[in-house]
Amino acid sequence: MSFYIAGTGSAIPEKVVTNDDLAQFLDTSDEWIYTRTGIRQRHVLTHEKLDELAIESAKRALADANVSGQDIDLILCATMRGDTYTPSLACTIGEAIGSHAPSFDINAACVGALYCMEIADSFIASGKAETVLVVGAEAMSKLLDWTDRSSCVLFGDGSAAMVLKKGEGRLAGVLSTDPDSHVIRMPNIEGINSPYNQIGQEKLAMHMDGGEVYKFAVNAMGKKIEEVCAMANLAPADIDWYLPHQANARIIEASRKKFHIEREKVLLNISEYGNMSATSILVLLDECAKKGTFKKGDKLLFVAFGGGLTSGAVIIKWKKE
Ligand code: ACO
Repeated sequence: MSFYIAGTGSAIPEKVVTNDDLAQFLDTSDEWIYTRTGIRQRHVLTHEKLDELAIESAKRALADANVSGQDIDLILCATMRGDTYTPSLACTIGEAIGSHAPSFDINAACVGALYCMEIADSFIASGKAETVLVVGAEAMSKLLDWTDRSSCVLFGDGSAAMVLKKGEGRLAGVLSTDPDSHVIRMPNIEGINSPYNQIGQEKLAMHMDGGEVYKFAVNAMGKKIEEVCAMANLAPADIDWYLPHQANARIIEASRKKFHIEREKVLLNISEYGNMSATSILVLLDECAKKGTFKKGDKLLFVAFGGGLTSGAVIIKWKKE
């Protein structure tokens, strides 16, 4: 017995930054960004804090699933960095929703939500939890070098959540890592005033070799689709909806063509949000769930890649009416 998705919610910063806005201070254009990535705009934190967005998305998912904070047995938050290192963002969410469940953050970059699903599956299968809250929350705008046009145009901020409940739903899941500490790298901030080491030795902002990530992503997405379908005894054509990590529309299109997947089955919202790392797939899920895209019994395939280099895929059967 594993889990099904009982509720979803999301919370997005108000501020919209278009490609034309970026062209005001970067040597770039809407045409370059859109044709290379499929991105038209992204949302960026201004007056809001990431904590607040994460709590809001969690509350919306709880309401959608008709459960309270006290019903939650485990809180997992996929994030590369919350507002504080400690408490973790998961603990901050727990405090806000009145939960005493074990709570911790997962950093698997853009694959974070899938890592959370698989951890939830293990907790539920072992009898340690029946209802799990998974939240994705990323403040990418605070991690970027805003003078580096090759990376800062790609990302956006946001949060989204889902409630997983014990029951039939998850059909298969696969996670892996191809360790590489160079192609995507974001150094951590350090403490201050140490007589033993110095800060500032490495630039404290994202470095990315876009071409290498691109090659990894197309292969990893394809491989994970194949692996997870084989585990579930399904063919890629049996899947009703694909929810790929929203990093680049061209990467998604290349994977789609490789498996002759019908374009209508591949869900996209990258043009509005850019890449929100671990949050992307969860925002897409919430939007489509609210629009009524999924019918009961539909098979949804989530697939993602990210820094680490991590990758993964999960298939679930949609249970809600
Ligand atoms: N505007 C205008 N020109 C630009 C920009 C920009 N924003 N960025 C780069 N360029 C220039 C480059 O300087 C280069 O110029 P040159 O030919 O004079 O040297 C030219 O455009 C081509 O650059 P490329 O890097 O070859 O462009 P490419 O077509 O490969 O697209 C991109 C770059 C979009 C980054 C692509 O490689 C990509 O999407 N890679 C994957 C990135 C990704 O998925 N990251 C997310 C994973 S990490 C995570 O999610 C945490």
